[in-house]
Amino acid sequence: MKSGNMNIGVFDSGFGGLTVLRALLERLPGANYIYLGDTARLPYGAKSQATVARYAVSSAHFLVEQQADYLVIACNTASALALDAIRDAVPVPVIGVIETGANAAQAATETGDVLVMATAATVDSHAYSAACHERGLRAIEKACPLLVPLVEEGWVDHPVTEEVLRIYLSELLEESAQAAIRPDTLVLGCTHYPLLRTNIERALPASIRVIDSAEATAAQVAAALCLPNSSDNPDGNPHTRRFYATDSVTKFRILGTRFLGQAIAHVELIDLGG
Ligand code: DGL
Repeated sequence: MKSGNMNIGVFDSGFGGLTVLRALLERLPGANYIYLGDTARLPYGAKSQATVARYAVSSAHFLVEQQADYLVIACNTASALALDAIRDAVPVPVIGVIETGANAAQAATETGDVLVMATAATVDSHAYSAACHERGLRAIEKACPLLVPLVEEGWVDHPVTEEVLRIYLSELLEESAQAAIRPDTLVLGCTHYPLLRTNIERALPASIRVIDSAEATAAQVAAALCLPNSSDNPDGNPHTRRFYATDSVTKFRILGTRFLGQAIAHVELIDLGG
């Protein structure tokens, strides 16, 4: 890997990937970051594989044009449906969040039984089931299509969201009881869901541990790039953090601040077509 400042491109259909960027900034503060939220074409989670792959590949091309040396696909739906297409399309290493999420589940579970909440497209792809199966785990997946719009609306501590979560989780637990499995781990299989983590933990039995793949992804990127956990800048230049969105930059700044946990000063609007 190059010895100067690494440019890490982080991509999501919207704001959720900022939870992954947040973990990356904590672990690898010395890198430069280029974040793209394809907000004009969100949600990916309700679209077909062909459409998600087309959107994700054009987004990956944009990040490579911006000099990204390494791509983090911080979107579960794009990782589940388009990782191979992205890898085929760009000349830089690409990591997705499904593998890292499954690794984190494997590290966390004692019973080997895992629950996954994700978008409809991610669940339909069964990417999590397959990744869990490869690691000797059993997984039950639940599509939770109402959660992304509720988070986008900022309805995190809202009675409607609490009720929707209660219904989804009771259906998921019912399904796992019918399958006679003993889950002790629940994977947040969508990068929007970490914002609902406290609500989800409140609604689950205490025996089930909630994990998201953001920290596991950051750890895997750090291991792959062999970068020091230091904000020292090898080439002496200031670090750059650039943010791009395909729809309202005002909305991105306001909502993005909540996901990133720090203010986003500037967002550039770009057009990736339809
Ligand atoms: N970021 C997407 C994911 O992690 C969810 C939002 C969408 O549906 O585009 O699956």
